[in-house]
Amino acid sequence: MTAAKHTTQGREAEFWDEVVESAQDRDEDLRVFPGDMFDRTMPWLKYMDFADYLQVVFDNIGLRPGMRVLDLGCGKGFLAAALAHRGANVDAIDISSKSVERCRKRAELSDVAERTNFHVMDCENLAFEDDSFDAVCGSFVLHHLDLEKIAKEVFRVLKPSGRSAFIETFGLNPLLMLARSTLPGRFGIEKASSEDEYPLNRARIDKLQQHFPGKVSPAFPRVVFARMGGYLPFMNNMLGRGILKTFDRTFAVPAFLRTWSYYGVLKMNMEADGK
Ligand SMILES: C[S@@+](CC[C@H](N)C(=O)[O-])C[C@H]1O[C@@H](n2cnc3c(N)ncnc32)[C@H](O)[C@@H]1O
Repeated sequence: MTAAKHTTQGREAEFWDEVVESAQDRDEDLRVFPGDMFDRTMPWLKYMDFADYLQVVFDNIGLRPGMRVLDLGCGKGFLAAALAHRGANVDAIDISSKSVERCRKRAELSDVAERTNFHVMDCENLAFEDDSFDAVCGSFVLHHLDLEKIAKEVFRVLKPSGRSAFIETFGLNPLLMLARSTLPGRFGIEKASSEDEYPLNRARIDKLQQHFPGKVSPAFPRVVFARMGGYLPFMNNMLGRGILKTFDRTFAVPAFLRTWSYYGVLKMNMEADGK
């Protein structure tokens, strides 16, 4: 399947094909080990407390050996390999064919090829039967997609007892949203997002809730807010990053401020209301 060039999917495929092709990933970083909780080709994820977010995903989907899981927008395949190492049988899809190639290589290197199937596929038009999966999950993908289509597709392919959870960028912090719209491409800050991205805001979460029968709720195990200042070149050093992380840990103390985190986990559970 190849996405038509002038569609959102075509632009996404082109953008992410280029990102993956230009990434100088070493085999030793691509290899995912059984206990790994972040992608070693993206070392900054450790600093961003990614492991805590991933644990929320695993807990919410009730990850266990033998379950069938779908990974949407799998990118370079870290999540798919991590799920497979924990015994899941994983189908993982991405619109970028270069990403899917990288995933297959990664699965081989990580000894999980027999538990993973990678497909070039559009998340908004899944080529899977109804009620196929125990869980659907993903990381940093929902904000690239038409959420209404996704809600319907996730619901359709999940089994009645299915669960889903997505690590996602949120737009609930007005300061971060302002920075996001003004800073990339200036002051030495790299533009790292494609044109068709919209972080989750309250209206988008409410829209998802309307189309999803069970409870849709965000979870914020940590706050990643000041740490986004690490994109500023003068803060991108050990001292600067340490200060920013300490600020976040202090800022996170009142629970209501956690929604100001740059990213969180969106949980969409079916079983509260049933299918
Ligand atoms: C920000 S990247 C995240 C990749 C990976 N999940 C990760 O966490 O590293 C977003 C991914 O979504 C994919 N994507 C965007 N739109 C898509 C669509 N309509 N269908 C399938 N994949 C899509 C992109 O190709 C890209 O690999």
